[in-house]
Amino acid sequence: MRLRSLLFVPGDSERKFAKARDIGADVLILDLEDAVAPSMKDAARAQVSALLDDRSPRDWAFFVRVNPFDTGLTDDDLAAVVKPGLDGLLIPKANGAHDVVRIAETLDRLEAANGMEAGSVRIAVVATETPLAMFNLGSYTPAHPRLAALTWGAEDLAAAIGATGNKEEDGHWTDPYRLARSLCLYAAASAGVAPVDTLYANFRDPEGLEADCRRARRDGFTGRIAIHPDQVATINRCFSPSDEELAEARKIVAAFAAQPDAGTLGIDGKMYDIPHLKAAHRTLAAAGDTA
Ligand code: COA
Ligand code: MG
Repeated sequence: MRLRSLLFVPGDSERKFAKARDIGADVLILDLEDAVAPSMKDAARAQVSALLDDRSPRDWAFFVRVNPFDTGLTDDDLAAVVKPGLDGLLIPKANGAHDVVRIAETLDRLEAANGMEAGSVRIAVVATETPLAMFNLGSYTPAHPRLAALTWGAEDLAAAIGATGNKEEDGHWTDPYRLARSLCLYAAASAGVAPVDTLYANFRDPEGLEADCRRARRDGFTGRIAIHPDQVATINRCFSPSDEELAEARKIVAAFAAQPDAGTLGIDGKMYDIPHLKAAHRTLAAAGDTA
């Protein structure tokens, strides 16, 4: 499952779903949580459930963001959307891996009841939205078999700690959110799941999004949340290896393959060792290239 671009679509908007479905996102996340007003929760749940019944072929994964446990809505959300066609869930405001276990137990039951392959519904987690969550990022290791990705969020965390803002005047995150971003990255790498960067709120700023995605990819993120269709192409481009990167990766892999007993090699006057080989394999895997 490719997790480069994950586009949020409010669960109560059929119009937005129609627009999102062929925009090129790897994942659509139908939202039942904060993009849906309390008065529309039931309607959104029914609509997302109905959308899942359309089993025509698609080239994106169908995820649903359910409401968090403290709302009392989570079980009804799961009962409505865990059915054939669902590829994954996004858990908001998680406090740690015990929340993954709790969702997974319900999934085990609902998959069996609905004739779905056991373990087929994957889980992604918004792992930094509560203060407690910040202390539990290590709990995602070892990873639950359903866990596919960790992402992070700054808005709910800011609200939870009583912050009056989370950005510097130049637009960069302040320290508490830089910490959340970094720890999410380490937690995902440690667990061996995809680190997915948070959303870029200004959807009319493609240059800013592009620059921010390049920083994210440099740091190790492998994909990003989108909130507007216009962001998807930029995200896909930024998180896909360029032709030059692919050519270099193939060269490194070929050089090590030609000298299987070498731990370090010189290629074009530069030193390469095992970490470079691992990075090259990762680059090729990101492009779906298994050479
Ligand atoms: N998915 C699918 N279609 C979307 C979309 C999305 N996330 N965001 C916007 N669109 C559609 C609009 O419906 C509009 O289509 P139309 O011309 O057929 O009406 C078109 O794209 C252009 O939208 P635009 O006018 O630029 O934005 P907007 O003011 O209508 O919407 C938001 C702005 C922020 C409300 C909207 O982008 C949105 O709902 N984003 C997702 C929010 C969300 O799910 N948040 C939860 C996670 S933080
Ligand atoms: Mg939120």
